Amino acid sequence: MQSQHHDLLISSRAGALDGTMHIPGDKSISHRALIMGSLAIGTTRVTGLLEGADVMSTKDALIALGAKITRDNNGIWHIHGVGTHGMISPQAPLDLGNSGTGVRLLMGVVAGQDITATFTGDESLSLRPMARITDPLVQMGANITSREGGLLPVTIQGNASPLAITYQSRVASAQIKSAILLAALNARGNSVVIEPHASRDHSESMLRHFGTSVRQHIDDRLAHHVELSGEAQLYAADIMVPADPSSAAFAIVAALITPGSDITLTGIGMNPLRTGLLVTLEEMGADITRQNARVEGGEAVADLRVRHSSLHAITVPAERAASMIDEYPILSIAAAMATGTTNMTGIAELRVKETDRIKVMAEGLATCGISVTYDDESMQVTGGSVAGGVTLSAQHDHRIAMSFLTLGLVSAAPISVTGCQTIETSFPGFAAGMNGLGAAIDGGDAL
Ligand code: S3P
Repeated sequence: MQSQHHDLLISSRAGALDGTMHIPGDKSISHRALIMGSLAIGTTRVTGLLEGADVMSTKDALIALGAKITRDNNGIWHIHGVGTHGMISPQAPLDLGNSGTGVRLLMGVVAGQDITATFTGDESLSLRPMARITDPLVQMGANITSREGGLLPVTIQGNASPLAITYQSRVASAQIKSAILLAALNARGNSVVIEPHASRDHSESMLRHFGTSVRQHIDDRLAHHVELSGEAQLYAADIMVPADPSSAAFAIVAALITPGSDITLTGIGMNPLRTGLLVTLEEMGADITRQNARVEGGEAVADLRVRHSSLHAITVPAERAASMIDEYPILSIAAAMATGTTNMTGIAELRVKETDRIKVMAEGLATCGISVTYDDESMQVTGGSVAGGVTLSAQHDHRIAMSFLTLGLVSAAPISVTGCQTIETSFPGFAAGMNGLGAAIDGGDAL
């Protein structure tokens, strides 16, 4: 058990940030590397895997499902896959902790094999909707029971020859899309997922990297169609995980809002379905230079130089939401330091993340003296001066914790944040890394 002391971090007004910061590996790609490596024939080596709590929950679940996964002394992970039909029913429930991606993608894996598994998670994950995943998996032939309301615990009895499906998703969600694609690997025939806008396509790219046939196109109404040929075989292929743009986002905004700052972040993932925040910040007047753009391990990456900038408000269009879905909490901090009222639209999905991110950010900003309005699918933040001198709860949400700590860098009085242990899920070393740039985030042992 962690004491409350470990869980509390205090962020104080900082001088200019400068230097280079190491950003850990991409969370989405790390989950997928472990999962697809486990389904492949042969040994997959992964460099740069995120070793945060969420990804480690997925690793432990895959080991319980029969994969062999080890880390060598150089920090390279070796995944000995069992093939798309080779998993075993785990002895105990699979506890995915705080990880929505882990639990949802693994549901797809189990649904397409002749095995049975029960999924559980922490307090936050146990409140998040799972019917969006289990509904299509039932249509594909899995037998599924869940707690009332489609919540965890969920038990899935898979089907070794699932039915191919054409599924029109109501929301643009990479987790829904990926769960279906993973179950469809063992289906006879082609399966198609159609989403209203393109969500991150790391599953599609990595499935191709492992030798599977996946086709994508965007139609004239901006809907994204993904088609996978079933009865697929995955062949082990090495993976280099780029630095996570969603983690880099905190350092980027910290540098933009802290006067005099000039920082560099290296090897950041630049998949265009993940860079909506950069586009938005640039429209707000941010000085961000993309340097050394290159392809590493099949993924576009670049180094980012970020300098303090005077930001102005904009309206962020709804169709951009999928490409920056995890970045609205930290964007709302940038908006609090911009002139004018920033309007974020089409963000209803934020209400079903690790917490209700619209409500929690709006209340936290208001407590710090910033004026915010919101409804079910939008939020408006008016820039102003941040009083601080308050204690805010992260509500089991790593991105909320890091966003409030970033606000503390420009606040008149320090901002204390409880529940910071959850930062470990996606960004181990966050506070120490930020302090390396010149931030003042204190919390004793938590550093
Ligand atoms: C993720 C997809 C997104 C995102 C999450 C990671 C993924 O969720 O919020 O942090 O790796 O597939 P949704 O697919 O539910 O939008």
